[in-house]
Amino acid sequence: MNCKHKESNSADKSPLAKVKDSVEIAVSKQFESFCSGCHGQQIAAFADRKWKHGKEISDIISSIKTGYADAEMPSFEAAFSEDEIKNIAVYILKGIDNVDKYRKGPDGYIYASVEKPGYVFRLKPLKK
Ligand code: HEC
Repeated sequence: MNCKHKESNSADKSPLAKVKDSVEIAVSKQFESFCSGCHGQQIAAFADRKWKHGKEISDIISSIKTGYADAEMPSFEAAFSEDEIKNIAVYILKGIDNVDKYRKGPDGYIYASVEKPGYVFRLKPLKK
């Protein structure tokens, strides 16, 4: 566990880590501006869907690029660069990863499992 104060934490970050942070903020803003109108503000809610067109990075990139005109999903190929599309796809994948970590059990509680070498912790929050 890292118990350092937040500020000293960010001061410790390498310049590269800072760049990565700012990309992530930019991507989440892009998601908010261009996608949330249809897909909802919460990336977690979007990620927790029955994936119709596949949830591999290549599927997600192709969904964003070509869109699904029949279903009113626009094509973003002209709006974003290759890199921007890839970053958005990675952002969605991270959302999927989080959803998979915090799955609801059959009893409606959310279980989070944290695995460390030799241990598996299962958390059961009090609230559904
Ligand atoms: C105008 C509404 C609209 C906007 C804006 C929009 N989408 Fe969509 N999107 C849809 C609809 C509707 C579908 C479902 C298509 C289908 O069912 O075939 C979809 C499907 C998708 C899928 C495939 C989901 C699956 O189940 O496989 C991805 C990925 C996706 N959108 C990403 C995005 C991203 C990223 C943005 C923003 C850059 C965005 N969408 C903006 C309406 C929208």
